[in-house]
Amino acid sequence: MMLVHALSVSERWRGVLTGGTTTTPAPSGPMELPISLRRAVDRALDGIALSDLKRAADRLSQRYRAEVRDGRFHLSDDLAARAYLATRLPATFAAVRSSMDAVAEALPDFAPVTALDVGAGPGTALWAASDCWASLDDALLIEGSPAIRAVGETLSGAAAPARIEWRAGDAAGDLPDLEPRDLVTLAYVLDELAEPARDRLVDRLWSLTAGTLLIVEPGTPAGWARVVRVRQRLVAAGAHLVAPCVHSSACPLAAPDWCHFSRRVARSRLHRMAKGAEVPWEDEKFVYVAASRQPGARPDARIIAPPWNAGNGRIGFKLCGRDGVQTERVLGKRDGAAFKVARRLDWGDGLSTQDQPEA
Ligand SMILES: C[S@@+](CC[C@H](N)C(=O)[O-])C[C@H]1O[C@@H](n2cnc3c(N)ncnc32)[C@H](O)[C@@H]1O
Repeated sequence: MMLVHALSVSERWRGVLTGGTTTTPAPSGPMELPISLRRAVDRALDGIALSDLKRAADRLSQRYRAEVRDGRFHLSDDLAARAYLATRLPATFAAVRSSMDAVAEALPDFAPVTALDVGAGPGTALWAASDCWASLDDALLIEGSPAIRAVGETLSGAAAPARIEWRAGDAAGDLPDLEPRDLVTLAYVLDELAEPARDRLVDRLWSLTAGTLLIVEPGTPAGWARVVRVRQRLVAAGAHLVAPCVHSSACPLAAPDWCHFSRRVARSRLHRMAKGAEVPWEDEKFVYVAASRQPGARPDARIIAPPWNAGNGRIGFKLCGRDGVQTERVLGKRDGAAFKVARRLDWGDGLSTQDQPEA
């Protein structure tokens, strides 16, 4: 008899499987910033003319889209930094926070006390980490741009960890005078660095990781290619991949296919106005890799694309398996309990199969 059960699912589905019984999952809505961060952002944006914010947001998204590297920070002035708060922080927060959920599921005993975040921007990873792990007590944030560092420092006055230090530093340099920390993060930074600097930075960050290193990038083919390279370096350095990869063999995907995930994010009124957007949400596409000094719990497979309607009430899943192989599986009612569980799962969730479902 075939049996499929969830081993590792995102926070949306926690409680789906309790003692072998199936319960209704909590409804999943667009992710919001924690209330204290939302208030701090509102204060930071108070009094800025919408037309100025809109212009700065447009400039910023052009620079990000074109992956401009002209020696200037994208967030080089105060207005650009505040435009980032309005238009990008909710999405990068959602991507980092979702990736941390996957880490917490793989490493349920991981309770980081110290954290290091490089290319911290407005402190996104600090807020996400303290939302994910109440144990967090001491955070060091390194940021090269004085404009976003100043904004981030002000915001972090409302954050939870007892000790928060902001430091000016160059991610492309040596990052001297640092001690290993439990959690090390690098979110949406690699795409702003040249390749030799990226490799050096990843090696340096791994050397500074006492527990887990999490690297998040935009969910584009280029972002995925950067993460695949990071993944190879970390595996070669002896790291345990804890998420999203369920194996340490070579990534089975080949261009033009690429691995990425998605998180729906609430858009504030100001965000909608600054972006000229109609709908009150957006889907942030991201890709990440988390590597640890300790092995994590691995599901048998991870769902690496949106499940699809396969007709006749059946659902199709694109899976990356522990054997290092990418497969597609279709489940329907005749699969019984397996289908009941699998139909609640979503893109990015882990799936454990004791008998493979029929293709
Ligand atoms: C896209 S933002 C991401 C900010 C934040 N990590 C997040 O996820 O929202 C990239 C950040 O990296 C910083 N950065 C880029 N190159 C850097 C460098 N060489 N040294 C230090 N910070 C850098 C930028 O100033 C910016 O704040």
